[in-house]
Amino acid sequence: MNLTAEQIQQNWIDFEENIKSYISEPRCSQLLDFYSKYSERIMLMPAAHKKEYHNAFPGGYVDHVLRVVDCALKLNNVWVEMGVDESTYTKEELVFAALNHDLGKMGDEHNEAYIPQDDQWRKDKLGEDYKFNDRLEFMSVPDRSLHLLLSHGISVSKNEWLSIKLHDGLYDDANKPYLMSWSPETKPRTSLIYIIHQADLMAARIEFEREWNPKLKGEVKKTNNFSVIKAPKQTIKTKTLSNVKSQGLMNMLDSI
Ligand SMILES: [Fe+2]
Repeated sequence: MNLTAEQIQQNWIDFEENIKSYISEPRCSQLLDFYSKYSERIMLMPAAHKKEYHNAFPGGYVDHVLRVVDCALKLNNVWVEMGVDESTYTKEELVFAALNHDLGKMGDEHNEAYIPQDDQWRKDKLGEDYKFNDRLEFMSVPDRSLHLLLSHGISVSKNEWLSIKLHDGLYDDANKPYLMSWSPETKPRTSLIYIIHQADLMAARIEFEREWNPKLKGEVKKTNNFSVIKAPKQTIKTKTLSNVKSQGLMNMLDSI
């Protein structure tokens, strides 16, 4: 699937509104400054590089993050209703962790993590519209998310650090020491970690269903394994990218 230029623009407005609504000063201004600096890249980033994954289309990253924030707020209500100890975290920590959990997907200050795939065979056969940028030094997404925040002077509370670090839950073996402890003393002291993980899982699952269920049900014409339904390239490019300076981003839109 693809987003329209208007959806991409509205998502960016909603993204900034979440920061203004839930994050207190000075971090509110710091985050707005950070995201403004990299807006051109982040606004158009996919959330993944392969169509089998979730939201692998221009604007997919912000669309995913907004869904994680929504899921986190709604799941938090369920946890509160069911008796979670609310005193162990704040709503600001909840939204901060949801907003920034996947930030590392942007790459670093100079190198985008996902760049347009230039191998036509991999695009056609493997559904890879993007590929990883070899110029980017390897870091896990959660580690890079935290590094980007801290290296730009944006403080992160312990709850936020743990929630971002562990947002993949037990899908990442590196998280086992935190999540597979059998001792009460070494179990997480806040349920925020689980709420963020559940929110991310819920959002990614819903994005998968939106992309793939119509194809799996035969409701959408397929080329090999992949949909051929796409938004008109010119519409997105001319409306949304009219002021984009990055040639890489222009190529990204051209290539999809
Ligand atoms: Fe995510």
